[in-house]
Amino acid sequence: MTNAVQPDATSSPVRVGILLSGRGSNLEALLRHARAGTFARAQFAAALSDIPTAPGLAAAARAGLPASALEPSAFPSRVAYETEIVRRFDELGIEWLCLAGYMRIVGKTLLARYPSRILNIHPSLLPAFPGLHAQQQALDHGVRVAGCTVHLVDSGMDTGPIIAQATVPVLDNDTEETLSARILVQEHKLYADGLKRITEQPWELQGRRLIFLPTTNSSSPSPKGNPIP
Ligand code: GAR
Repeated sequence: MTNAVQPDATSSPVRVGILLSGRGSNLEALLRHARAGTFARAQFAAALSDIPTAPGLAAAARAGLPASALEPSAFPSRVAYETEIVRRFDELGIEWLCLAGYMRIVGKTLLARYPSRILNIHPSLLPAFPGLHAQQQALDHGVRVAGCTVHLVDSGMDTGPIIAQATVPVLDNDTEETLSARILVQEHKLYADGLKRITEQPWELQGRRLIFLPTTNSSSPSPKGNPIP
């Protein structure tokens, strides 16, 4: 993973593709934030789902975003499937990805094409409770505080460097549904916060720690890191 990334000194747009597998409430929240002018740089350019019937895909299309499905089973390998994603996204000038309920491990093809530029949201305070049913895992463990995490994606499952986290108290009468609903409210805010910050503020990795650096004067490029084209 790149040691340091420096946002361009200008406010040039960062074109983002969204990958999803299901409901799409995080996609809808990101698009709401974009419409409200939250992002100085991030612009959503397309949505793609591995599940053709994903409601999130219809939501993207309703919002006017180019939306398409790509079933991995139609390809001989993960490399071939991800190569087609890259081909479609390259046509749209996409340089960053947001995973919004995309329930697949990201393979080496996407990781190589978007180095340190793939974000994911997960409904737990990572590294606790990766994988499926994170909220039920939190209840089963008996934690008093749950939450959500926005992180960079690496080759593991919910393991990349952490960009932002938000906490949610666990109530004695919580079920998976009630806890998930309260966490989801935080997800919809946190994802926009994380995307905004990582595309607008310089940062670097110190080991696993993602450190945000002071914002430099826009007329004088920082000596640190690489400009994002
Ligand atoms: C969200 O809770 C998201 O955090 C989770 O799937 C849900 C998708 O909801 N993602 C993961 O568990 C990834 N490991 P949405 O389709 O309504 O955004």
